[in-house]
Amino acid sequence: MIGRVFAQRYRLEEFVGKGGMALVFRANDLRTGHDVAVKVLRPEFNSDAEFLERFQREALAASKMSHHNIVNLLDVGEEDGYRYLVMEYMRGRTLKEIITEKGNLPEPVAGQIAIRILSALQHAHDNGIIHRDIKPQNILINAEGMVKVADFGIARVAGSNTLTKGDSVMGSVHYFSPEQARGEDVTAASDIYSVGVVMYEMLTGRVPFDGDTPVSIALQHISTPPKAPSLVVDTISPAMEQVVLTAMSKEMRNRYRDAADMARAIRAALQNPQSIVTSTTAPVTALPPSASSASAAKSAVGKRCWWCC
Ligand SMILES: Nc1ncnc2c1ncn2[C@@H]1O[C@H](COP(=O)(O)OP(=O)(O)OP(=O)(O)O)[C@@H](O)[C@H]1O
Ligand SMILES: [Mg+2]
Repeated sequence: MIGRVFAQRYRLEEFVGKGGMALVFRANDLRTGHDVAVKVLRPEFNSDAEFLERFQREALAASKMSHHNIVNLLDVGEEDGYRYLVMEYMRGRTLKEIITEKGNLPEPVAGQIAIRILSALQHAHDNGIIHRDIKPQNILINAEGMVKVADFGIARVAGSNTLTKGDSVMGSVHYFSPEQARGEDVTAASDIYSVGVVMYEMLTGRVPFDGDTPVSIALQHISTPPKAPSLVVDTISPAMEQVVLTAMSKEMRNRYRDAADMARAIRAALQNPQSIVTSTTAPVTALPPSASSASAAKSAVGKRCWWCC
């Protein structure tokens, strides 16, 4: 594939990575000279008419979004039987790679990353787009610490049957909401649940539910309460633990009402790690702020990325 030029414009230069449904390349946009990422769908998806129709529809919707925490979709096309997406190229690493290397992330860093994911989600939800596949593999972070969410509205268009198509797609089940696990309609609240799982993993270094089969993991999302994050890493603050557990409520109505609401709760937790807040209106218990998490948080995601490189 290297050297192939799509649409007389995008020249594939380097293989970057692969997922369950596509291969990703860094490419050069011959018109602008800029690097772009080209995601080429695996050929087996070409024969599924319903999949292709949804793919086109969702790609169109995603291309309407523009946000600094979203990997923007620039173009879609088909050539010689290859269907592809052209996206912003994000030189950096996935959040999954960073968690794997670091074990777990300091609370202010995890909080700031989550706030950026939620900012992207709020923008998408306001535009009627649900991500459906929030997971650390879809969170890209560059050397400056910039956080961008990839694969908006596209990654899961194949529906729940992709559970069985390849290891990396099966990996998504770790981040599924209970309603996704039941095969029900996915809503903005499902994305909130998945951010809760991603936060759990950032803070503890492990996913809340694991198992030998996708079904066993899905069943735990539906009916097993997650082990409290502070039982895994005892330095996790009560406030941040509360945020994670609220986002991961089994019942949609018990989660944050929207992404912005969850982001506010994270900010409050960073300011007051010992205060447990059940809603964004009033803290239930207000202990004096302990460590200066707020100032640590401000420097956590900044110009120089001391924690991701
Ligand atoms: N816009 C991008 N810029 C740079 N690298 C990217 C970009 N999008 C994806 N990648 C890289 O390509 C890899 C494969 O991405 P892809 O979305 O196909 O797989 P995935 O997210 O791991 O799994 P899934 O098939 O469920 O989407 C990612 O892990 C990432 O390293
Ligand atoms: Mg992806």
